[in-house]
Amino acid sequence: MKNRANKNILGIKPYIPGKPIAEVKRAFGLKRVIKLASNENPYGPSPRVLAAIARAARDVNRYPDGNCHELRQALARRMKVAPEQLVFGCGSDEVIVLALRAFVNPGDEVIVAKPSFLVYSIASIAVGAKLVEVPLKGLRYDLEAMKKAVTPKTKIVFIGNPDNPSGQYISKADVDAFLKGFPQDVLVFFDEAYFEFVTEKDYPDTLALLRKRGNIIVSRTFSKLFGLAGLRVGYGAASIEVADLMNRAREPFNVTSIAQAAALAALKDEAHFRKSLKVLTRERDFVCAELGKLGGRGVAYSKGCTNFVQVRLPGDSTATALALMKKGVIVRDMSVWGLQHYIRVTIGTPAENRMFLRALKELV
Ligand SMILES: Cc1ncc(COP(=O)(O)O)c(C=O)c1O
Repeated sequence: MKNRANKNILGIKPYIPGKPIAEVKRAFGLKRVIKLASNENPYGPSPRVLAAIARAARDVNRYPDGNCHELRQALARRMKVAPEQLVFGCGSDEVIVLALRAFVNPGDEVIVAKPSFLVYSIASIAVGAKLVEVPLKGLRYDLEAMKKAVTPKTKIVFIGNPDNPSGQYISKADVDAFLKGFPQDVLVFFDEAYFEFVTEKDYPDTLALLRKRGNIIVSRTFSKLFGLAGLRVGYGAASIEVADLMNRAREPFNVTSIAQAAALAALKDEAHFRKSLKVLTRERDFVCAELGKLGGRGVAYSKGCTNFVQVRLPGDSTATALALMKKGVIVRDMSVWGLQHYIRVTIGTPAENRMFLRALKELV
């Protein structure tokens, strides 16, 4: 059947996610396995959120509210946007897909940084876009080169801020310079999946930009700080016109009723997510300080403003990731991004982070 497949799909290298804990336990006969591979929040949902999930579970014979009414109102108030400016997705991944589906015809160009979050490229190729990849400069976006790469065929530029896997953010001054003279009819998609982790004062206020410009999309998610990755709920803010077009490309019931109820409860449980944020930020600093001590053994790290760290190793990343897995620690091998000496490690609980550091020390 391969010759009958959509030609765009044949151009996609399958996305390889971090291995699930149960699979690694089975494969290596391990009792304790921790997963630090997918930038999840190890603390998960609060009791209040679990109670909201249990309540919503009683009504799963009904289709969900396709409009996500309550969640929409709550987020609109919080973000100071009109409710009609919001688009909901099965994870913010789907918001990326909806933007592409709504705006890209086969042959149109989409600009991404390389390496960057893989879903931008996979979803772009799936809709038949011509992918224009602009290499990072060190760990940072080369915004000047990305702007120069815009042609009359460009529909969307994806900016992960902070980005994955680098963990680095782009400052307000750099975003302002990028947008100066930037064509009003090319969309700039700011992916802010790690927004809640950023404390840097010069981080751009993209919602303020959206108030002034019709070509901005901002996506955020409940998968990271809010601890709901398994429920798949994310959202985007755009102009009412852009949001309406994206909504036309959406399946009518793309966010489950349980996901909507959990997201609403998670948003209200400020004490819980603030606590996660405090511990995870402190732990990130601890992990980085410990990695710093391994400098003499050829380990280097780049501290970003997210809940993960990119680590450079003295040896091959695939071999090290496998060796760590055999010790019960799942990390992300970054060779899939073409970075053969790097792994990406999510910040876990204090005990998990220490288990990772112990295992790494034994290997390098
Ligand atoms: C930069 C970035 N954007 C978007 C996502 C997608 O998150 P979700 O679809 O769970 O909202 C991720 C997840 O790892 C990410 O790292």
